[in-house]
Amino acid sequence: MMRKQFAGLMWSVTASLLVISTAHASGSVEAGETKAAVCKGCHGEGGIKPILPEYPMIGGQHQDYIVAALQQYKTGKRKNASMNGFAGALSPQDILDLAAYFSSQKSELKMKY
Ligand code: HEC
Repeated sequence: MMRKQFAGLMWSVTASLLVISTAHASGSVEAGETKAAVCKGCHGEGGIKPILPEYPMIGGQHQDYIVAALQQYKTGKRKNASMNGFAGALSPQDILDLAAYFSSQKSELKMKY
C-alpha cells in the first residue's frame, strides 16, 4: 500500500522532471515579465539590480540554472525561507516563463568572451 503510493509519487516526480526538461524552450518572456512583478521587489528590475546585497542578481543567468534553482526551492531541496515560499506557489509553466524572462536580460552574468 505504502509502496504503491511511493511508486505513484515517483512517477509524478519523474513526469514533472520530464516536462521541465523537454519543455525547455516553451517559456514565454512576455508571460514571465508579468509574473516577475513580485520578484522585482527583491531582485530588482530585470533581476539585475537587487535592492539589498544579500539578494542575488538573477537577470542574465542561464535559463537552466534558474529553472533548477526554482525547482529546488519549490521541493525544499534548496532551503531559503523567502524563496521556498515564493517558489512553492509557482507552477511548472510559471517557472519556465520566469526563467525565460530573467535569462533574456542583459547583465554581467551573461558576458561575451
Ligand atoms: C523577499 C525577497 C525575495 C523575493 C520577493 C524573491 N526572491 Fe529570489 N531570492 C531571494 C534571496 C534572499 C535569495 C538567495 C537565497 C539563497 O541563499 O538560497 C534568492 C534566490 C533566488 C534564485 C537563485 C539565485 C542563485 O544565484 O542561485 C532565483 C533563481 C530566484 N531567487 C528567483 C526568484 C523569483 C523568480 C522570484 C519571484 C517569483 C523571487 N526570486 C522572489 C529573495 C527574494
